Amino acid sequence: MRTVFIERGFEDWRRQSRQLLQAGIAPHELTWTNGQAGSDLFAAAAGDDGGTPGPPRPTRVPRELPALLECASRFRAGDRWALLYRVLWRVAHGDRSAMLAGDRDGGELQRRIRQVRREAHHMEAFVRFRERPQTEGAPRFVAWHEPAYDVLELVTEHFLARLGRVGWLIATPDAAAQSNGVEARLLHPCPPELAAMARSTADDTDELWRAYYSSTFNPARVNAGLARQHMPARFWKHLPEGVLIARLAANAQLSRPHRSQAAAVAEKVGQQVQVCTEQARPKRPLPSSLETCRNCALWRDATCAVPGEGPKTAGLMLVGEQPGDQEDLAGRPFIGPAGRLLDRQLADADLRRAEVYVTNAVKHFKWQAGGGLPPLRRHRTPDAEEIAACRPWLEQELAQVRPRVVVALGRTALAALLQASDPTRLRLADFLGRPRWHNGRWVVAAPHPAAILRSEGTLRERLIGELQTALRQAATLQAD
Ligand code: URA
Repeated sequence: MRTVFIERGFEDWRRQSRQLLQAGIAPHELTWTNGQAGSDLFAAAAGDDGGTPGPPRPTRVPRELPALLECASRFRAGDRWALLYRVLWRVAHGDRSAMLAGDRDGGELQRRIRQVRREAHHMEAFVRFRERPQTEGAPRFVAWHEPAYDVLELVTEHFLARLGRVGWLIATPDAAAQSNGVEARLLHPCPPELAAMARSTADDTDELWRAYYSSTFNPARVNAGLARQHMPARFWKHLPEGVLIARLAANAQLSRPHRSQAAAVAEKVGQQVQVCTEQARPKRPLPSSLETCRNCALWRDATCAVPGEGPKTAGLMLVGEQPGDQEDLAGRPFIGPAGRLLDRQLADADLRRAEVYVTNAVKHFKWQAGGGLPPLRRHRTPDAEEIAACRPWLEQELAQVRPRVVVALGRTALAALLQASDPTRLRLADFLGRPRWHNGRWVVAAPHPAAILRSEGTLRERLIGELQTALRQAATLQAD
């Protein structure tokens, strides 16, 4: 068995395989590997069973074969050079079926070619350039892209033709293409400083593009499977609109087509984007002020703001962290699994939900997309700024409802009620069983029902006990 080292890609393979073919060395006698031999191992390999290659034989192959082989060589697979040589060998020996889809080798060759072309098409469609401040000799537009196959070279002409006479750079994990506006050169491997530049550049058109994208997104026509086929999810993370796709698709599937479309456009300042005025929007009931709250960025990914609910005034108020997935869709607090657990615990403590006011420290659902379609909306804990941004709403509820006792369900709620500057430094355990008189009312700390749902065994029992104790204590304090 001989080992052939391919150091510089297809041209290297082509040169070496021509020699191998002429030497009459069959595919099964060869192992192909990427990289550099310590010496010219191929020459050694060709003669390592004693003989020098015989006189070169003329090799005739159909004119289209080299281009097909070149294209298939861009498919990343451990056997890429071996497959090419097998096809070349068979065709050179008169077996043209090795190029055809019905043949085992030919079928694989054709499949790889299709995949490579598709990936090149994806790259042309999904490369997003960001503009950089102009500096001497540096590209004006830069992009980072992670193609699955070696297609950068295939798309360079496309971008050269479209971008005109400006300098640009496309960096990928393996290679980069850089143009000075006249010609492009390929850099292999990609210099780390160019990769870093391409990965870190952001410009303010991203936000404008997101506003445009969400306002023109057509929920009535979403076909999640087809969308994924056209734009595989692996590209989302590098597209400015990538963060929106999951939410927009989820809203569309949940029959909430109007959500979060025009609002983002209306929010934008500047001539270009003032395209959607209050009058131009579809007629909808006027939103309450909480619904239009933009004190922090959480509103963008939430379906709606979730206000508290309960009697106009109440002796007892329960404060959770933020709406969950179901609360976000229904616009009501604690109606999902955590809410059901809370209802059971209230009943056990002889409290009636209808008589307590239930709300959250943060009114918009903070989440990030997980896998699947519609995507899973994974809960994320609000940070100090988001809690502070929402405080005026909580203050307003406290002032209106005037509870004598407030139960803080979890650390975020406790931090909001005690106005802690750094919620992460607050230890809920330090407050359990120790009600605190704060701003003219009792604050009672309790574990969050969602934490109970996530726990098991003795921990779960302990947390349920602590919630029960807190609720009973609150009931007593309220009656005092
Ligand atoms: N968790 C919360 O903190 N609040 C809700 O409304 C639901 C789940």
